[in-house]
Amino acid sequence: MGAATPVEVTVPDQAPRRTALITGATAGLGAAFARRLAAEGWDLVVVARDAERLATSAEELRARHGVAVSVIPADLATESGVGTVEERLRNASAPVELLVNNAGIGLNKGFLRSTLDDELRILRLNVEAVMRLTFAVLPQMTERRSGDVINVSSVSGYGVTAPGSTYTATKAYVINFSESVGQSVRRHGVRVLALCPGFVRTEFHQRAGIPTAGSPGWIWLDADSVVDGALSDLRKGRYVSVPSMRYKIAATALRHAPHALVRRFSEAGNRAVGRGAR
Ligand SMILES: NC(=O)c1ccc[n+]([C@@H]2O[C@H](COP(=O)([O-])OP(=O)(O)OC[C@H]3O[C@@H](n4cnc5c(N)ncnc54)[C@H](OP(=O)(O)O)[C@@H]3O)[C@@H](O)[C@H]2O)c1
Repeated sequence: MGAATPVEVTVPDQAPRRTALITGATAGLGAAFARRLAAEGWDLVVVARDAERLATSAEELRARHGVAVSVIPADLATESGVGTVEERLRNASAPVELLVNNAGIGLNKGFLRSTLDDELRILRLNVEAVMRLTFAVLPQMTERRSGDVINVSSVSGYGVTAPGSTYTATKAYVINFSESVGQSVRRHGVRVLALCPGFVRTEFHQRAGIPTAGSPGWIWLDADSVVDGALSDLRKGRYVSVPSMRYKIAATALRHAPHALVRRFSEAGNRAVGRGAR
């Protein structure tokens, strides 16, 4: 483990350097955040488990954008992994001005067929790590009266699904937690955004063993567009970002429709992507 050596390159503008820390930065939405923020001139700290892939991603970002990128190989579902990242976030001599809590997993199993280990792993990564890293970074941000946190949730956090029951519960936590903390730190000049995408083309479904072959094309979002929308919503001061009109409508329906209807909607959604009830 350890920070890779930044390549010496001149960044186009002379604005002060800012650092963003992104978890799960080697694939999908995290990689899209890394590309976009590096293109804006942010220095990065990138976190994921696969050290080799992390080093390759960091090298590509440095070479393409001329920013400093350091790596922290860490499993955020473990005490030591989350502890290492907390320590980096508390380092006052190298402040992080944007934290993107993005790393997250799903499970394609009904609760009864799952294992306690899997259920605990998803809670540790999707919930505990998000809370702990936010807790670690906020004191410095509120002290400086500047800083942003983006917590990646999901539009499914507004509803219910089976299988994957614990997943939607973790994402409901992230929405509620982010909005609540966001309200309490806003007066200190700090913004917290919950990002709630629908289906995004990433490695997520393949990793979780969720079949997507029969799913209609219209349900899929592109990771770069989701990130564009999230950063735009954050900078407009919004608390929640739901990318695309179709998922804004879905989120509104999930929040305001009668609950029995929401359950039916969720069952239909599961059928659309080929997921059975168990
Ligand atoms: N894709 C979707 O349709 C969708 C929809 C709504 C919300 N989301 C949310 O978006 C976020 C990102 O998902 P994605 O679709 O971009 O997933 P992805 O393509 O599977 O990428 C996941 C990233 O997280 C890292 N990661 C996984 N487990 C980790 C762990 N225990 N510790 C540290 N890093 C870990 C992975 O790298 P390593 O394997 O090397 O650790 C990888 O960089 C998640 O929170 C997910 O719930 C996704």
